[in-house]
Amino acid sequence: MNVILMGPPGAGKGTHAAKIVDKYGIPHISTGDIFRENLKNGTALGNKAKEYMDKGQLVPDEIVIEIVKDRLKRPDCEKGFLLDGFPRTIKQADALDDFLKEMGKKIDAVINMVAERETLINRVIYRRVCPECGAVYHLINIPPKVEGKCDVCGANLIQRKDDTKETIEKRLDVYDEQTKPLIDYYSKKGLLYEVDGGKPIEEAFADICRILGSID
Ligand code: AP5
Ligand code: ZN
Repeated sequence: MNVILMGPPGAGKGTHAAKIVDKYGIPHISTGDIFRENLKNGTALGNKAKEYMDKGQLVPDEIVIEIVKDRLKRPDCEKGFLLDGFPRTIKQADALDDFLKEMGKKIDAVINMVAERETLINRVIYRRVCPECGAVYHLINIPPKVEGKCDVCGANLIQRKDDTKETIEKRLDVYDEQTKPLIDYYSKKGLLYEVDGGKPIEEAFADICRILGSID
C-alpha cells in the first residue's frame, strides 16, 4: 500500500504516521525527519535545509525531490510506503507521479488531515520531542510522566527550533500558498480522503484505519 499523509503543521501527521507504520509494517518516509537527522549528523544537506526550516520556508524542490527518489528506490519500499510531508508543492507532486510511473507504481490513497488554525498553533507551540528516540509529546495533551524527560529512553526533551509562535504562523502561511493546492490536485485524481485531525488521537486513527482498510 502506497500512501501519502498530508496536512498543515501540527495536524498530527507524525503522530499518526508512527501508528500506521506500527500497524501496517510499511516504511515511514518523513522529509522533515530526514532533514532533522542530517542536521543532527552535521551533513551538508542538514546545514542547507536548516537555512530554510528555521525560517519556516520550504526547502527547494530540487533538493527534496532527489532525496525522496533515492529513498523510494530502497528495497524496503517494495511492500509499500508512507510519505509524510512530501509532496508539498505541485512540482514535487508531478515529480513523484513521473517517478512512480517509471517504477511501475502508483499512489493508492492521500490522507489529508485537517484542523483549525488555533488548534494547529497550540499543538506546535506545546510540542516537545525526544532528540534520541524521536518520541513526540505535548505539554498539555500528552505530557511526559517525568517533566522534561522522555518516557521511552529518559533523554531530555527539546523544542524544535521551528516551533515558535512566529515561525508556526509563517509555516501555516506557506502551507496555504504552496501545499493547499495539492488537495485539489489529488481530489481530481480520486485519491483524496479527509480526516479530522482535531479529534482525539485514537478517534482520528480509527478513521485512518477505516480508509486504509478500504483500499487494501
Ligand atoms: P515537517 O517536519 O514535515 O513538519 P510539518 O509538516 O510542519 O509538520 P509537523 O511536524 O509540525 O506536524 P505534524 O502534523 O507531524 O504534527 P504532530 O503529529 O507532531 O517539516 C518541517 C520543515 O522541513 C518544513 O517547514 C520545511 O522547511 C522542511 N520540509 C519538510 N518536507 C518538505 C518538503 N516536502 N518540501 C520542502 N520542504 C520540506 O503533532 C503536533 C503536536 O500535537 C504533538 O505535540 C502531538 O503530540 C500533538 N497531537 C497530535 N495529534 C493530536 C490530537 N489528535 N490530539 C491532541 N494532541 C495531538
Ligand atoms: Zn526518547
